[in-house]
Amino acid sequence: MMLQYKFGIDEIMTKLNILREEFSHRDDYSPIEHVSSRLKSPESILAKAVRKGLEPTIEQIAAEVHDIAGVRVTCSFISDAYRVYDMLAAQNDIKVLQVRDYIAAPKENGYQSLHMLIEVPVFLSERVHPVKVEVQIRTIAMDFWASLEHKIYYKYEGQVPETLLAELRDAAATANRLDVTMERLHDDVKALGSSTGRYIDPNKAGAIELPDTLLRTFWPQADAPAPVPAPAELPRLRSSDV
Ligand code: GTP
Ligand code: MG
Repeated sequence: MMLQYKFGIDEIMTKLNILREEFSHRDDYSPIEHVSSRLKSPESILAKAVRKGLEPTIEQIAAEVHDIAGVRVTCSFISDAYRVYDMLAAQNDIKVLQVRDYIAAPKENGYQSLHMLIEVPVFLSERVHPVKVEVQIRTIAMDFWASLEHKIYYKYEGQVPETLLAELRDAAATANRLDVTMERLHDDVKALGSSTGRYIDPNKAGAIELPDTLLRTFWPQADAPAPVPAPAELPRLRSSDV
């Protein structure tokens, strides 16, 4: 049983690594920053089964414990998290069983992440076995927050003092602001890079390339034929100034 879940993880890791390599090769940028995985230990599976009041049978456990195979994807930006989600969901051997969007609706404690429970077929020698894999997609900032929160939660065995909880909620809001700002900056820079105009440097014979948006900021008549401005009189440094 455990081996099937390990194969399920292998399948998803391969899919994600293919996407990451394809993006890095084609665009010099990948929406996938980092991928990791973990197989829940038999002890933790049993403990969870007991917690959920399940019969300790393989059938019950397979039906009710959804995170035996876990894959975590870290992205730079929030929009990348949804992009990764869309790309996985669009693969026709993947069945999306459940989605929990804690990015759109963060948990009470501030936790943010996009969870998808998927089923992927694993081809064994004599049959095809559908395996459930829980995929958590989040930004670097969300991941930073979640790993600290997880450590704190365990340190206090679930009884985290209210002041600390309030600070964690604050930190989650700060992480979200960082995500939003970084995404905006990224979009701005992307827009700059998408087209270039020409700027004639009056002090040089040649021309240098300037992004269109920058060109328009400094030179609103950029579409008109470019007049060459007279060289500006620049104050010059004399050796006696140094
Ligand atoms: P379990 O919590 O695993 O029983 O599943 P669930 O049905 O409640 O699903 P949910 O999508 O809420 O959480 C699944 C997983 O997401 C957890 O096992 C954690 O890895 C992660 N997760 C959910 N909530 C939190 C949280 O508040 N803090 C942190 N650090 N991780 C969380
Ligand atoms: Mg939970």
